[in-house]
Amino acid sequence: MSIQKVGVAGCGLMGSGIAEVAARAELDVVVREVDESSVKAGRGRIEKSLGRAVKKEKISAEERDEILGRIRFTTELEELADRDLVIEAVVEDLEIKNQLFQRLDELCGAETIFASNTSSLTITDMAAAVNRPDRVVGLHFFNPVPVMKLVEVVRTIATSDETFDRAFRFAREVGKEPIAARDNSGFVVNLLLVPYMLDAIRQLERGVASMTDMDKAMVLGCGYPMGPFTLCDFVGNDTTLRIAEIMFDEYREERYAPPPLLKRLVAMGRFGRKSGKGFYDYSGDEPVPLPV
Ligand code: 3HC
Repeated sequence: MSIQKVGVAGCGLMGSGIAEVAARAELDVVVREVDESSVKAGRGRIEKSLGRAVKKEKISAEERDEILGRIRFTTELEELADRDLVIEAVVEDLEIKNQLFQRLDELCGAETIFASNTSSLTITDMAAAVNRPDRVVGLHFFNPVPVMKLVEVVRTIATSDETFDRAFRFAREVGKEPIAARDNSGFVVNLLLVPYMLDAIRQLERGVASMTDMDKAMVLGCGYPMGPFTLCDFVGNDTTLRIAEIMFDEYREERYAPPPLLKRLVAMGRFGRKSGKGFYDYSGDEPVPLPV
């Protein structure tokens, strides 16, 4: 049985992208945010992304309107009750995710699959908090969701084969290339990517080279689409710090320990692109490196 009705809890950077790709795949989507201003911001993100696709002539203005018409926005959790699949993309905080899933556990039908887009928490910790651990799975998308092809589909020791298969098929149906990953913190990509990003910050602290030269090095020397500091600003320094804290807590390995400079940037509100400043200043036409 394929997934037709999708619920997305949280419409930030990731949730808005997930809602968009699901609606583009002609699925019926309900997006839930906590208040009207968050709904407005989330809807704005989707409109902006679809506007970009119209401008690039990938979709027509009519198709954009049809896609938007397939997404219903709400602040009521009850509206997710009839969904085949609910994907949470709320803040990276286990308690908040578990409270959400526990309320959904009471509201949703027994067949509804719960998925988390967590970057670094374990799916098992969420599955253990609800009465349907066999129907809990990880669906980890990448930023920007409409562009990045990968989805990590994560199974716990309790995930049923049917749940996993349906989630895997869903990822394909929304145009992504799924891979299967075991439920360890960081799955595959962040397990490898996060130490790389943190290491770049550590090398910057040591004065190995300038930030812009290190960014240039990885783009021109390795063909990466963006250098590590541009990537940190793109992902969000607050998000990377949170992920590092969770992964360090899990593994107690130095390579996951957040470097002091990352903490200082976050303390100053330099979250990256989303706050206008991070390693770079994004207020002008081109990013300008800031003092670190
Ligand atoms: N939303 C929708 N579409 C977007 C987009 C966005 N935010 N940003 C870019 N695009 C589209 C453009 O429309 C364009 O489409 P086209 O090729 O069909 O015309 C295409 O992406 C390329 O965009 P641009 O030409 O404007 O810019 P770039 O060539 O510089 O590409 C990029 C931008 C795709 C973001 C590229 O720089 C890239 O791949 N960067 C690396 C991203 C990355 O590593 N993501 C993973 C982060 S880790 C993560 O998400 C895990 C989490 O748990 C932390």
